[in-house]
Amino acid sequence: MTVKPPTTVGELLDWAREKLAHFPEPLREARQALLLATGERHLERNERLSPFTRGRFRRIVEARARGVPWPVLEGVTGFLDFEVLVPPGVFIPRPETEELAELAVTEFQKAPKGARALDIGTGTGVLAIALARARPDGEVWAVDISSRALRAARRNAQRLGVKIKVRRSNLFSAVEGKFHLIVANPPYVAKEAWKTLPSDVRNFDPKAALDGGKNGLYFLTRLVREAPDFLVSGGVLLLELAPSQGERVLAEAESTGKWRECSVLPDLSGRPRFFRGYRC
Ligand SMILES: C[S@@+](CC[C@H](N)C(=O)[O-])C[C@H]1O[C@@H](n2cnc3c(N)ncnc32)[C@H](O)[C@@H]1O
Repeated sequence: MTVKPPTTVGELLDWAREKLAHFPEPLREARQALLLATGERHLERNERLSPFTRGRFRRIVEARARGVPWPVLEGVTGFLDFEVLVPPGVFIPRPETEELAELAVTEFQKAPKGARALDIGTGTGVLAIALARARPDGEVWAVDISSRALRAARRNAQRLGVKIKVRRSNLFSAVEGKFHLIVANPPYVAKEAWKTLPSDVRNFDPKAALDGGKNGLYFLTRLVREAPDFLVSGGVLLLELAPSQGERVLAEAESTGKWRECSVLPDLSGRPRFFRGYRC
C-alpha cells in the first residue's frame, strides 16, 4: 500500500506533530513552522498547500526537528521592544541580556549630554542599539572581533534608524578615547561547562561567542583589568556573567584598586548575573 503524502493543512500539521514529538509542545512548534512557511495566521485544516509551500514547510520542520533554534530559522529575534536580524554564525541574543540592557540604559540616562558608551562583543548589536535608542544625543560604539557580527550589527542599526559606530576590535585594541559606560556580554562559558550546554547552544552559536577559556573567566578578568583605561572617572562597567563567576570577578576588580562600589546584581530569578563597578 502506498502512503499518500500530506497535502492539506491538517495533514501537514499532523505529520509535523509526529516529527516534532520530542519537543514539549509539538503542536505549537508545528503551527510556528506553518506560519513561517506560509506567512498566514488563519488557515483552514482542509486547505491544500502548493507543492512549493509544502516543500518549504517540510524543510523547516525537518530542520527544527534536528534542533535548529527558531531565531536561526526565522532569521530574526525580539529584544526589548525591537527586533534584530540574526544571520547564521552570529550569537542569538538571550532574554537575560535584556536585563543587562535595562541596567545599562538606566546608567546611560544619568550620563551628561553627548555621553559616550561602548559595547564590547556586540554580536547582533542589541546592547549598543538599546543604548543608542535611549540616548540619541549620545555616541555609542559597538565592537566585535567577528566580521559577521559587525555586518549584522551595522545592518540592524540601519534598519532601526539608530546611529552606532561599528568597529572591528579585539576587546579594546581599536577603541579610542574615554567612555561614560562600558557594557559587555562576553564569552564566559568554562571549558568544563561546555559539554553540559544544550545541543542547540553548542551547535548553533559560534564557539568564539561562548568560549571563555579554561574557567570561563578569560574575558571577564581582562575586561575588569583593562576597562579602567577607557572610562572617565565615575564611569560604569556592566558585565554579564555566570552565577558561579561573580565572586571571582569582584575579587579581580578589587585587586586592581581602580573600582569603587563593585557589586554583582541578580537577574529576575534572583541568580547573581551582572557585575557593576564604577571607575574611581
Ligand atoms: C556572548 S556573545 C554576545 C553578543 C551580544 N552582545 C549579545 O549579548 O547578544 C559574545 C560576542 O563577543 C565577541 N567576541 C569574542 N571574542 C572577542 C574579542 N576578543 N574581542 C571582541 N569581541 C569578541 C563574539 O564574536 C560575540 O559576538
